[in-house]
Amino acid sequence: MEKSKIKIDLSNYVGIELSADFRGYEDKTYNILTSLYNSKSDLPQMTGWLNLPHDTKMFDDIQNFVNKTISEDKYEHLLVFGIGGSSLGAQALLDGLNTPLWNRISKGKRKNFLTVDFIDNLDPQIIRTILSRLKLDQTLFVVISKAGGTVETMVPMLIAKEWTGENFYKQCVFVTTQGKGLLFDIAQKNNIPLFPIPENVGGRFSVFSPVGLLPAALCGIDLNEIKKGILDADSICQMKDLKTNHAAMIALASYFSYKAGKNIFVLMPYSTCLRKFVDWFVQLWAESVGKNLKGSTPIPAIGATDQHSQIQLFNQGPNDKLTCFVKINKHKRDLTVPDFSNETQEFRIYAGHKVGDILNIELNATRRAMTENQRSNFTVSLPELNEYYLAKFMYILEVSTAIMGNLLEVNPFDQPGVELGKKYIKEELAK
Ligand code: PA5
Repeated sequence: MEKSKIKIDLSNYVGIELSADFRGYEDKTYNILTSLYNSKSDLPQMTGWLNLPHDTKMFDDIQNFVNKTISEDKYEHLLVFGIGGSSLGAQALLDGLNTPLWNRISKGKRKNFLTVDFIDNLDPQIIRTILSRLKLDQTLFVVISKAGGTVETMVPMLIAKEWTGENFYKQCVFVTTQGKGLLFDIAQKNNIPLFPIPENVGGRFSVFSPVGLLPAALCGIDLNEIKKGILDADSICQMKDLKTNHAAMIALASYFSYKAGKNIFVLMPYSTCLRKFVDWFVQLWAESVGKNLKGSTPIPAIGATDQHSQIQLFNQGPNDKLTCFVKINKHKRDLTVPDFSNETQEFRIYAGHKVGDILNIELNATRRAMTENQRSNFTVSLPELNEYYLAKFMYILEVSTAIMGNLLEVNPFDQPGVELGKKYIKEELAK
């Protein structure tokens, strides 16, 4: 049976963003896409992430390692060290797809997959707490760094090494660049399994490499469905017709709004499970398009929570934002509100509604209010929140980000502003 499709509804957008000339930009966008796709094997172009949906060997290697690890049953916990692009993608997949409070459910309910924690900062309290709560002898450590020696990854790794003792490296897997860098050298010396990050895949575009997929699969995420999702996204993203090419549509909507003075891009899914997905997107967008004094600023928001927080500003503050709402048509494990109208008539309006449907009614109401206030917005609908649709949407957003960078005439794949800071940190530490 054919799967339902992800849909984009721009009906609220086109009446507000009057200068948006989608048809007039169809050729230009298609040319950008063609040159992105044509550069997939050209190392310096950094578009190797477009090869990942087709990398069957990578998917098989990860799956075989995961099957072996889970069947050996040596580990209870997974602890991931990594920062930025080397952490957020896996967090987005796991928070979006696994049951909330995953670490608190029994091993049986987890089907022997591992509990998971991420250390993605140098907050000593977090490092100490996580390391002291885990049974370190039953923990698999996945250390992820493309450069191979990032401070925020090395420091907690060294502390974990001291706390775990001599077996630490035996319990490690590294995800890093093949053939160079500190992690590669340590892996060679200590016989540590290593999953390579292709050279032409940048950190923030690496979620569908072992960077995102290895931690996700160790915690039960279905890689086959992820693969199907990104393969389908990959075909959609190469279409010229804007009606089909969601990536081009999102990039163009953000570009026209930016040109019209809306230099803030709000991503607002109506689901708390998508909080980390928004964090992932914020990094992807900010690091890719924010350079040469250009770029729209991504703002994270969650519906309905932010209706009681940022929406006031979005609706009546400066008219400098474009909002992309994300709707989940059918929420997982939905609940029906009981009928307590015999207690007070005020409860009657809730009775019999599904909670997920109320959330979506709230989304529609917010869209309507924003549109009445001439606030640019459009909505992406996912039929449901599962591996296939989340991966598909994330891939579409990666391509949108690459197109937006090109429309703005900046290089979406470098990050000189990040590298400079990294250099100064190492200089200070060495003093
Ligand atoms: O997207 C990026 O390039 C960055 O956010 C990196 O992922 C981050 O700085 C971590 O770098 P590394 O993977 O080299 O440790």
